[in-house]
Amino acid sequence: RAKVAILISGRGSNMAALLYAAKAEACPYEVVLVASNNPKAPGLQLAEAEGIATFAHPHKGLSREEHDQIMHEAIVAAGADYIALAGYMRILSDEFVGKWQDRMLNIHPSLLPKYKGLDTYQRALDAGDNHAGCSVHLVTPELDDGPVLAQTEVAILPGDTADILADRVLIAEHQLYAAALAKYVTREADPDWILEQVRIRALALEETH
Ligand code: GAR
Repeated sequence: RAKVAILISGRGSNMAALLYAAKAEACPYEVVLVASNNPKAPGLQLAEAEGIATFAHPHKGLSREEHDQIMHEAIVAAGADYIALAGYMRILSDEFVGKWQDRMLNIHPSLLPKYKGLDTYQRALDAGDNHAGCSVHLVTPELDDGPVLAQTEVAILPGDTADILADRVLIAEHQLYAAALAKYVTREADPDWILEQVRIRALALEETH
């Protein structure tokens, strides 16, 4: 099974969804570490209770690069092949993102490319959208900008507030993230898929020369 480290900053409900999904025998990934920049993140306690190794290191007083390096070392020491960001509310250094290129996923509560950043629910309501939703994407140096792997649309109902909508989008997030992560780690192990990626990169290289 592919080895995944989950990075959280708070509640950790997406982390819990990924952990519980991994309890199924057929799940192609296992969670080897839950790490946080916030030692008080409630999600850490849950992970510990589930017997998952945890790591916490506050970012206060450290440069972005220094903190990312500490996290990176803990993740590598845990033997992780992939990182799943799950409400990790820190912008990552380009260096860290580069080290985990194509191996780091994030979940974002909007239908990307719409509403990158914060306040996604209120922005969808203010725009009069009839759907909100969530996206799982690969992490690239630009915030919330990497290739989208999967999305779920969530209908906006009359009378929805940002909080009510957030609760409903979260239900969709929990299902989407576990499914998208499972699919992603499986596809990477598929020789045809790897060949396809090599072909795509070769084409991209040709274009730049
Ligand atoms: C989730 O809604 C996630 O999509 C969002 O933070 C929440 C974390 O909740 N992430 C972002 O906004 C990242 N840009 P959780 O800790 O219960 O998973």
